[in-house]
Amino acid sequence: MCGIVGYIGPKDACPILLKGLHRLEYRGYDSAGVALINNNGSLSVYKSKGKVADLESHIAGKDISGTIGVAHTRWATHGEPNSQNAHPHYSQSRNLALIHNGIIENYKPLKQEMMNHGKVFKSETDTEVLIQFIEYIKELHGCNLFEAVQLALKNVVGAYAIVVIDKDNPNRLIAARKGSPLVIGVGNNEFYIGSDATPIIEYTNKVVYLGEEEIAEMNRQGDLTIVNLENVKQTPIVKTVEMNLSDIEKADFPHYMLKEIFEQPDALFNSMKGRLNIEQKDVLLSGIIDYKDEILKAERIIICACGTSWHAGLIGKYIIEELTRIPVEVEYSSEFRYRNPVVTDKDLVIAISQSGETADTLAAIQLAKDKGAFLYGICNVVGSSIPRATDTGSYLHIGPEIGVASTKAFTAQVTTLMLMALSIAKLRGTITKEYFEELVEELYAIPEKIKKTMELNEKISKYSKIFTYARNFIYLGRGYNYPIALEGALKLKEISYIHAEGYPSAEMKHGPIALIDEEMPVVVIAPAHSKYEKILSNVQEIKARKGKIISVITEGDTAIKELSDIYFEIPATMDCFTPLLTIVPLQLISYYIAIAKGRDVDQPRNLAKSVTVE
Ligand code: AGP
Repeated sequence: MCGIVGYIGPKDACPILLKGLHRLEYRGYDSAGVALINNNGSLSVYKSKGKVADLESHIAGKDISGTIGVAHTRWATHGEPNSQNAHPHYSQSRNLALIHNGIIENYKPLKQEMMNHGKVFKSETDTEVLIQFIEYIKELHGCNLFEAVQLALKNVVGAYAIVVIDKDNPNRLIAARKGSPLVIGVGNNEFYIGSDATPIIEYTNKVVYLGEEEIAEMNRQGDLTIVNLENVKQTPIVKTVEMNLSDIEKADFPHYMLKEIFEQPDALFNSMKGRLNIEQKDVLLSGIIDYKDEILKAERIIICACGTSWHAGLIGKYIIEELTRIPVEVEYSSEFRYRNPVVTDKDLVIAISQSGETADTLAAIQLAKDKGAFLYGICNVVGSSIPRATDTGSYLHIGPEIGVASTKAFTAQVTTLMLMALSIAKLRGTITKEYFEELVEELYAIPEKIKKTMELNEKISKYSKIFTYARNFIYLGRGYNYPIALEGALKLKEISYIHAEGYPSAEMKHGPIALIDEEMPVVVIAPAHSKYEKILSNVQEIKARKGKIISVITEGDTAIKELSDIYFEIPATMDCFTPLLTIVPLQLISYYIAIAKGRDVDQPRNLAKSVTVE
């Protein structure tokens, strides 16, 4: 949450910072701001409510000179989204400016203490408390900014990624992190800072991921000094980021979400590359092979995740239990972390997170680690916190996902869980060689089948418009497609703001059926499989009550097709792989309904891509 950008070097900082903010806007977009040490030596802070484009209009005609600066795009935690609460925040003397991602939990007593020392606050934020506190420490000890930041952070409880500039020292930039990510791009006598690598990669692919409780100082001579809170010097480890500019641009698509939906065949192919060997009909997942003993020791698997990643985890439960016979529990990270769960060293805990930064999932795995569990991370963002906190894991290898609504990350998470299930089943000998090979062959065919499913795009775009009237939607699925009902409903809610609920279809008669009338669209996910006849009965029950039926069925279906008001056909596949196909029309339905309602699909209200606060 919140996007952070910083720059120091020979170039004009403002264009770099604004471009960086655009790239990071998916992390939060209720207000934005920039601070620059201008060429005349003054420290200017410009802020505005709304998006980065509003900030650009706001600074038109103002002094935006300077070769050092910081900028921020906000997702509000403390204080409503307005220009006062937007970052950067000045210190009292207006000599310092700070941007922050995270939450300072002890801001109230600190604020009181600062007010007792005569500091006056202009915003309701925890961030302003921090910069006032840093300045107070600096004045109290007569130390430099680096030391003041270090001392101040020792007294701070909470999570932060911060960048600070000092008008009296325009030759250095100070950054620090705990709990929230921060990446430093290393150029030629210049440094770039970002909450992730996206604002950096067009300038340099050399980056340093700042570690937990580390503070960095960057200067114009190209020196990067990193120490921890105890002042022990750390050696910066420069890594190469494998990300291209085209990965983070929309190309010819109107929205990132649509681009990412269409990327799914290639994304899944890349996720399987080097892992699924079609010639030898084998699966080689290094995250499992390298830790075979620990994985085989597991008597239970616990999957921790949030939102869409949780839905992927639920599909993971179905397939892992079916193929490996290991019991699997799927936990919301936010519940798991606070309920003193039973976890032992015989548990394998799988954390699933696109961003790799979700605060609740990070806390959940920390708890599981303390209780002795073995940790496996399934993440997309390379170098993010969860892969670094887990014992082993698998990256998705699908490139950045920028649309706030997760699409390609979901199908890649499900694919990775399927590869895990296959690997573990093979190691444990719980399925026959023939069945294993049949599954491998069919999984390999899925990207092509998704491509085929994409041909529904036009039909979906045409029919989705009909449903802009709806205030509620119901999604129904059974077995492997029950999690798809949940995911379809979440996709619709988050980008169209239409209320939607997903249910296992047989649960209808236990309550939700009371909602059905001629106004209610019911999305039925009913590929041709063992539960087909059961779902058919559920569809008849809805039809009898005049509900509008939108079905996702397998090509060649006749019975549900006849009962449907609108149907979308997908290619046939094995039961366990159907979620990878059935989700595609649901993603497109949400997208087109949201577009028809004039919603901002890539940046829906109140949401942010990376949820780094609990
Ligand atoms: C998905 O469309 C959502 N925006 C959201 O539920 C997301 O999946 C959740 O916040 C978890 O994020 P993560 O995968 O980065 O941990």
